[in-house]
Amino acid sequence: MTPSSADYDYIRRLVQDHSAIMLEAGKEYLLGLRLQGLMTRHGCADIPALVQKLRSDRSGALSREVVEAMTNNETSFFRDLHPFETLRKVIVPELIRRRAAERTLDIWCGASSSGQEIYSVALTLREHFPELVNWRLNIVSTDLSREMVQRGRDGRYSQIEVNRGLPAMLLVKYFERSGMDYYVKPDIRRMVDFRELNLNGPWSGVPSRLDIVFMRNVLIYFEDAVKRRILAKVHDLLRPDGYLFLGGSETTLNLEDRLEQVQLERTRCFRRRH
Ligand SMILES: C[S@@+](CC[C@H](N)C(=O)[O-])C[C@H]1O[C@@H](n2cnc3c(N)ncnc32)[C@H](O)[C@@H]1O
Repeated sequence: MTPSSADYDYIRRLVQDHSAIMLEAGKEYLLGLRLQGLMTRHGCADIPALVQKLRSDRSGALSREVVEAMTNNETSFFRDLHPFETLRKVIVPELIRRRAAERTLDIWCGASSSGQEIYSVALTLREHFPELVNWRLNIVSTDLSREMVQRGRDGRYSQIEVNRGLPAMLLVKYFERSGMDYYVKPDIRRMVDFRELNLNGPWSGVPSRLDIVFMRNVLIYFEDAVKRRILAKVHDLLRPDGYLFLGGSETTLNLEDRLEQVQLERTRCFRRRH
């Protein structure tokens, strides 16, 4: 059943206030799709019953669950491939030269979903740059969704997930099979610090001088004012020679002029304008 516009508006506002995600008008059907499991768990027969429960949700726990359930967590290992190729061929070799004295790299993935993106970064470093073994690699991976952050920490993926983009050689070398699933081996898991973080709130725990930022396929959900605020903060945290990756349809153009686009190999990324 399609929810009434008042119920849809209530949930739309709740999601936007908390996460900055804009649910478009006309996407009412999404509520049923994304909230069905949650409604069953909470004994709500339909969306009006859920909205009624939300209105008296003093602790905020149910509201939080609803917001998380409304996020789109689509991701895959080595998604779009080229950013990881550029990382391997250009960016990491360059940063290894530039950071030879301090031997530290600070990397942040700002909307990492279930962790496949940041593990793709970690696997690239481990597989191709043995010289980094004695460096301090500070790799922080954050997402709004508690469930997704926990999935990243667990490092457990289904056959379907590992079949989408993960090279067989990396699967064999860095994963362990358990029943139907595959686990990222502990020494790769230990490379990444997974935390909850709302991009629309305070950014505690994000390294204050970043060499590489992945923030892909999340700005698309926000309105321009929010994108501007986030990109300004990324600019301030990015080192002068650091790199930002956005999703294929995302840009800093007309949003943050202090970041400029650079074409590296077959990837577009962003740097501080000098
Ligand atoms: C489509 S996924 C993209 C995942 C990954 N970056 C990629 O490109 O494969 C978008 C992610 O952004 C997260 N997200 C949405 N709003 C957020 C917010 N306000 N703060 C942090 N993460 C958010 C969602 O939970 C979801 O996991």
